[in-house]
Amino acid sequence: MWLGIDVGTGGSRALLVDAAGKEVASVTVGHQEMRMQQPMWAEQEPSDWAQASFAAVRGVLAKAGLTGAQVRGVGLSGQMHGLVMLDGDGQVIRPSLIWCDQRSQPQVDFIHARVGRENVLRYIANPVLTGFTLPKLLWVRDHEPANFERCRKVLLPKDYVRYCLTGDFATDVADASGTGVFDVVQRKWSMEMMDALGLDRTLLPRCYESAEVTSTISREGARQTGLAEGTPVVGGAGDQAASAVGNGIVETGIVSCTLGTSGVVFAHMDEVAYDPQGRVHTFCHAVPCKWHVMGVTQGAGLSLKWLRNQLLPGVDYDAMTREASTAPAGSQGLYWLPYLMGERTPHLDAQARGGWIGLTAKHTRADLIRSVIEGVSYSQKDALDIIEGLGARVNSVRASGGGARSLFWRQTLADIFAKPVVSLASQEGSAAGAALLAMVGTGEFVSVPEACAATVRIVETLAPQQDYGGRHRVYRSLYPALQPIFPSMGC
Ligand code: XUL
Repeated sequence: MWLGIDVGTGGSRALLVDAAGKEVASVTVGHQEMRMQQPMWAEQEPSDWAQASFAAVRGVLAKAGLTGAQVRGVGLSGQMHGLVMLDGDGQVIRPSLIWCDQRSQPQVDFIHARVGRENVLRYIANPVLTGFTLPKLLWVRDHEPANFERCRKVLLPKDYVRYCLTGDFATDVADASGTGVFDVVQRKWSMEMMDALGLDRTLLPRCYESAEVTSTISREGARQTGLAEGTPVVGGAGDQAASAVGNGIVETGIVSCTLGTSGVVFAHMDEVAYDPQGRVHTFCHAVPCKWHVMGVTQGAGLSLKWLRNQLLPGVDYDAMTREASTAPAGSQGLYWLPYLMGERTPHLDAQARGGWIGLTAKHTRADLIRSVIEGVSYSQKDALDIIEGLGARVNSVRASGGGARSLFWRQTLADIFAKPVVSLASQEGSAAGAALLAMVGTGEFVSVPEACAATVRIVETLAPQQDYGGRHRVYRSLYPALQPIFPSMGC
């Protein structure tokens, strides 16, 4: 058996797979809601991720009736870009500023001014964005100097869990790509960025390819989880690259759309390809010598969750999507802008605000729900268009993540993308990808593509039925019209 652990935003998931890569059992343990002291700020407690991951591992071993000794390898995946700061004793200094936290625009501007925009692109193949780890670290340096002074190690969320499991400071190339200090082309830390910003190089953990073994489960890790001491742990990947492995996005022509809290359109690249405007990220893939581009909607599943929590308490997601399907396509001219946490693709605007536009007294609750699903899907279509513009061939889109469990949402994606949308037998995405990386790292498969070929199976293809081209054009005209107003909206 092999174990994949995905440290998500909503919860941590542990998944066991057998020697064929087939899923045996999984358990998810929820996290506390992210703390938002101000609009566009988002924090979580690293200890909460660790406790949830430990409980999920103990739970999945019990569910499958296995002992830790039967697990031959562990792979980690997790929410990207979060900042975990440890002191010299390995203690967490402050809560993590997570991926969707947008407070660091002044630090982003400082980095581009200090290093030079051209140099930044040369060093890390991307512009620095508010979501990335580096400007968050500089925010702490500017606003909490005592916390910054105490910091000896900076880790990403899943790598904090790795530290708790193994005692080692390590990360992988795919997750490191989203820090803003990683040379994506050379697949190593960018000491040029660290030096230009006066940051101590020893803050960074060692970096490995995703299927390389980084360390083994420690005595303490074994005590917490029931795994056996000495079990190998591989680098793993940020959740999006891990999900791409789980979805078999390891060759050109296939693209995925993962609807979790965020929404991500992801394409494999044999060569490094950039969007000159930086609207999609160019990061290392979890496959050696391969890269990927991805476009991110900050508030995908988050939009539906917000709608449910605020306006439809107690209504479950199945009931919501059933109700949405009773509204006409286009939601009677109602549009949802999913910019609840600013936006990355295509606007790169930390100040963008969400909302409904076009509301009339005739609109129903079903229109409200449908428009949210359509708005998130338009935003993902924006990402898909940019990725196609970079030369990626897109024959079909593989849908995964919580949102894609809904047939209605999958069909909406097919319609808005104007592409066939494919579902796979496994809906486990990131956790499955992490487990497959553990299988490769322990020699069960010779390569990641071989692991994918052996395990990924298509079970459904939905053809586009409705034409949404005109509606998507209306959606696209809304942001430029509203953008000048966002900065003055206040909080
Ligand atoms: C990717 C991203 C999110 C998080 C949370 O760039 O920020 O997908 O990884 O899932």
